Amino acid sequence: MSWVSIDYTRCSNCGACLEECTRCFSKTDEKVVAHADINCCLVCGRCVALCPTGAISHSQMDMTNFHVINNCDFISPDDLFEFLRQRRSHRAFADKKIPEADIKRLVDIVRYSPTGSNSQMVELLLIQSPEKRKKLSDLAVDFMIKNGEESGEKAKAMRLAGKADEGEIKLMEMIAFYGEMMRESRDAGLDPVFYNAPLVMIFHAPMQAFSKKDDCVIASTTVGLISRTMGLEYTYIGIFEGAANNYPAVMDELKLPVGNGVYSVIILGYPKMRFYRTVDRKPTKVRYE
Ligand SMILES: Cc1cc2nc3c(=O)[nH]c(=O)nc-3n(C[C@H](O)[C@H](O)[C@H](O)COP(=O)(O)O)c2cc1C
Repeated sequence: MSWVSIDYTRCSNCGACLEECTRCFSKTDEKVVAHADINCCLVCGRCVALCPTGAISHSQMDMTNFHVINNCDFISPDDLFEFLRQRRSHRAFADKKIPEADIKRLVDIVRYSPTGSNSQMVELLLIQSPEKRKKLSDLAVDFMIKNGEESGEKAKAMRLAGKADEGEIKLMEMIAFYGEMMRESRDAGLDPVFYNAPLVMIFHAPMQAFSKKDDCVIASTTVGLISRTMGLEYTYIGIFEGAANNYPAVMDELKLPVGNGVYSVIILGYPKMRFYRTVDRKPTKVRYE
């Protein structure tokens, strides 16, 4: 029994579904037929979305959640380019709660982000509790201090041995410096990991998932960008991702499903400051062939 069915009273036999997916569609006696099942179908719904006459339905998907697209040219390239250029990482947030409806909207966009092989394995952990945020931040700082001390010791030993790779020593010294900075910052009463942001979004996925890192980063980027249209700003927090995946105490505190890893983290909130200018960046190195 095919997961996809075609209503032949509506089908114009245009062949768009077949052109899109030769795995699940074929042509017999000049008629397109569907034979979608677990062996070939990614449950991506593209055949349904492409059908100009609405003749295709998919038994594994919610058919009420396919809305008709009327306009797709409402954002000009100039507007979107400027919107993307104006994005800045923010680390100072107003003491203002994000409405639940906006958070729900941000969560909802995640399901519409693309995933490798349409695996849809991205999961979310949202932290709004200041106590929980502080606990996680402290654990991440503990990790960075410990990591920094170990790296500093290694760098010293390598310098004494006199035969080590200068690049590697510099990297270890930088990790040691970062650990020290984190300690000083926390001792001064600051939150050097999440900057006391009202919302921390942790994107996690099963470690064995094929494209987990890409999927989580695409999802977090999508959330971050849409959040800007709600007056919010965001920043990626790579240091927490590193701590989560390398320091069991952080993972224990997160209580993720067994086998899941953290692949992207962002903080969000209403900005305390605004940027009056865009910034310069190095030209992209590119080769055209
Ligand atoms: C993958 C990634 C990880 C990052 N991790 C952190 C982080 O842990 N803490 C932080 O304050 N900023 C973090 N940032 C923000 C960068 O420092 C920031 O993007 C960069 O300095 C450029 O500034 P802009 O985002 O305003 O253009 C991260 C950015 C990226 C893309």
